[in-house]
Amino acid sequence: MERPRVGELAPPDRLLMGPGPSEVHPRVLRAMSTPLVGHLDPSFIDVMDDVQDLLRYAFQTENQWTIPVSGTGSASMEAAIGNLTEPGDTVLVPGNGYFGERMAAMVTRAGGDPVFVEAPWGEPLDPVAVEDAFTEYRPDLFAFVHAETSTGAKQPNVPELTAIAHDHDALVIADTVTSLGGVELRVDEWGIDVAYAGPQKCLSCPPGASPLTLNDRAMAKICTRDTPVRSWYLDLSLLQEYWGDERAYHHTAPITNVYALREALRLVAEEGIENRWERHRRMAGALKAGVEAMGLELNPEDDWWLPSLNAVRLPEGVDDDAVIAFLLEEYGIEVAGGLGDLAGDVLRIGCMGHSARPGNVLTLVAALGDALEAQNAAVETSAGLDATRTLLGR
Ligand SMILES: Cc1ncc(COP(=O)(O)O)c(C=O)c1O
Repeated sequence: MERPRVGELAPPDRLLMGPGPSEVHPRVLRAMSTPLVGHLDPSFIDVMDDVQDLLRYAFQTENQWTIPVSGTGSASMEAAIGNLTEPGDTVLVPGNGYFGERMAAMVTRAGGDPVFVEAPWGEPLDPVAVEDAFTEYRPDLFAFVHAETSTGAKQPNVPELTAIAHDHDALVIADTVTSLGGVELRVDEWGIDVAYAGPQKCLSCPPGASPLTLNDRAMAKICTRDTPVRSWYLDLSLLQEYWGDERAYHHTAPITNVYALREALRLVAEEGIENRWERHRRMAGALKAGVEAMGLELNPEDDWWLPSLNAVRLPEGVDDDAVIAFLLEEYGIEVAGGLGDLAGDVLRIGCMGHSARPGNVLTLVAALGDALEAQNAAVETSAGLDATRTLLGR
C-alpha cells in the first residue's frame, strides 16, 4: 500500500458565531497542550476534584454526583436518559424542537415509552400543557430542553414545571447544553433532578468531556434499577467507581479534555457566574438590537429569547444557504441555518462564551448586513450598526 501524503494541519481562521462550537479561550487551548499524566495519577485525582467542584458552581448545585461524561453532549444526554429510563417507563419529552426528538429516540432505545407535550417550534412549553400531559400519561420521568439550540427559545417557568413533575412523583431531566455557563440556571433552587450539558457552547471548551449532575433521588433510582443500564460505558452505577470515592479504573478518561474543561470552568469562576450570565445577555442584546434595527426579526418572542442562540428570521426570498456561504467565504464567520420546522426560515447565530465579545458582535452585524444586501434584501445595515454600538456603550 502506498504511503498517504497528507499536508500539515492548517484550519482556516474562523469566527465561530454558530450554534457551537464557540471560540475557545487561549488559556483553554494552552491547558490542552500540557503533558499527559495517567488517569489514576495522584495529580490527576486532584484535577478531577477541581473539575467536580467547578462544575457544581457552574450548575449551582450541591449534588455530589457531578461529573464530566467522556464524549460529546449527546453522551451526557444518553447517560441521563439511559440511566433514568427503565424498560416500560413512560417519559414525557418536549415536542417544541429538534432535541426533544433526540430525547424520544434515546428513551425508546432504553426500552421506555416516550410521550410528547406539544408546543410550536420556537415557543416554550406551557405549564398547563405539562400538567395536562401528566394527567393523561402519568409519566415516570419528565425531560425538557432549557435552551433549545434549534429554535433559539429558552424555557421560562422552570420551577413551575419541576413542581408539577414532583407533585406527580416524577423525576426531571433538563437539557442545559446551550445554557450552562451562559444563561441563568439554578439546578438546586429550581428543583432540577438531573441536568446535562456540553462544553463547546457557553463554556467555550472543545467537545469531549460533557457535564452531568444528578441529585440523590435520581442516583437512588439508578442504583435500585431492576435491570442493568443497557450501555455499559455510560452506566453511572459503574462509573461511580471512577468518579466517586474509590477513584478506581472504569475507562481511560479523556485527560486532555478534562484539563480543558477545568480551565474553561476556572474562567467561569473567575468571572463569576452571575456576571457571565449578564455578559451573555448584554452582548447578545446588542446583537439583537442590531439585527432588529436593520429591519429583521428574531423568531422567538422577547419573553423567551435565548441570548446564547439568536434565531433571526430571514426576509422573504432570501436564500439561507447563500447568506451562510457569503459569511463564511467573505468574512470567515460561521453561522447556521434553521432545523426541522424552521429550516430555510431562520439563521441561527450563537453568542456564547468567549465568542460573546463586543468586537465579534459588531463584526457579525456588519457582515450580516453585507450578506443580506448581496442578496438584494432591503436592510438598513448602518441603522443596525448604530443600535449595536449604542447598546455596547460605544
Ligand atoms: C440542546 C442540545 N442538546 C444536545 C446536543 C447534543 O450535543 P453534541 O452535539 O455535543 O453531542 C446539542 C448539540 O448541539 C444541543 O444543542
